[in-house]
Amino acid sequence: MKTLICTTPGELVYQEKEMPSLAPDHAMIRIRRIGICGTDLHAFEGTQPYFEYPRILGHELSGELIKANGAPPEFKEGEAVTFIPYFNCGTCIACRSNKPNCCTTLKVCGVHIDGGMVEYLTVPIRSLVHGQGLSFDELALVEPLAIGAHGVRRAAVQPGEFVLVIGAGPIGLGIMEFARIAGANVIAMDINEHRLAFCKDKLQVAHTVNAKDADVTEQLKRITNNDMPTVVIDATGSQKAINNAFQYMAHGARYVLVGLQKGEISFSHPEFHKRESTLMSSRNATREDFNHVITSMKNGLVKPATYITHRVSFDRVKDEFESWLNPANGVIKAMVSME
Ligand SMILES: NC(=O)c1ccc[n+]([C@@H]2O[C@H](COP(=O)([O-])OP(=O)(O)OC[C@H]3O[C@@H](n4cnc5c(N)ncnc54)[C@H](O)[C@@H]3O)[C@@H](O)[C@H]2O)c1
Ligand SMILES: [Zn+2]
Ligand SMILES: [Zn+2]
Repeated sequence: MKTLICTTPGELVYQEKEMPSLAPDHAMIRIRRIGICGTDLHAFEGTQPYFEYPRILGHELSGELIKANGAPPEFKEGEAVTFIPYFNCGTCIACRSNKPNCCTTLKVCGVHIDGGMVEYLTVPIRSLVHGQGLSFDELALVEPLAIGAHGVRRAAVQPGEFVLVIGAGPIGLGIMEFARIAGANVIAMDINEHRLAFCKDKLQVAHTVNAKDADVTEQLKRITNNDMPTVVIDATGSQKAINNAFQYMAHGARYVLVGLQKGEISFSHPEFHKRESTLMSSRNATREDFNHVITSMKNGLVKPATYITHRVSFDRVKDEFESWLNPANGVIKAMVSME
């Protein structure tokens, strides 16, 4: 079968490999779509911490279930599926607490182990997710959107709340969608005017704020009737943005870090204390989030056309990959098709 391997930063190589063998409790998927995400781009650039090469990238996947070695009867061969690409141990404290998304020895497919830039991939049967009539495009978008759905669920967003989402990349856009679906008044913040315009035009976000403006706090007060946002969610991964956003919380607010950075966070303890603030991280997503995303897609509340800006066939990935790193090309989601 055909595979594409990131052999070292900056280098992708097509290689013929043997078909994978099917271990017990595993299913074989014929891959049909591969969504490209920031993690893949950073791995290619060589800026993804702790990344080991060579590695087959790709974790936003959909395809056909070819066969299963011990499948539960409700999965049919030939069925369109996606899967939860965070392979967990099943026995650690997180797994026992129904938090497989933060398993102590989590292996993310396409990050810690080889992923989906292949014709055929085997995955644990328990990671499979029914396609439920969605297209391969939609199914490959479920994972990145589930990250946002999980962040919104962590915050327990209530109808009518003002939710400030900082960072309008693919992850932040998903957070905005699921905050809206939860009934929130969404405020989008970024430093990139193109991305803020995208939020207004494509996602109908009513309020946008440029983080570079001198009067950000005043703008937030005006939007929230002086209260400030009761939920703040970071999707920048910028240390500066993360530290800065503590001041945007209303008293009693929750702050959820979906974005990730390598340094330490610091904030004023008295400011944090007087608000009785809650700070949380949000890692990956669970089956509940995947199901919520699929239902929202089926109900037409989230549309793949909003996200997919670039399309290529598998044999073009090597040549096109570098161009997706250039912000001038306006990539939100590049989608690879395998025929
Ligand atoms: N929680 C998880 O499991 C999970 C999963 C995937 C990605 N992530 C993280 O989510 C974050 C976002 O991912 P993405 O692919 O959307 O990234 P992205 O780089 O496409 O988007 C980040 C956005 O933040 C904006 N930004 C940067 N600095 C800012 C600042 N100071 N103020 C306001 N906006 C600022 C950028 O302009 C950009 O639009 C990353 O940190 C990524 O590592 C987390
Ligand atoms: Zn991803
Ligand atoms: Zn575990």
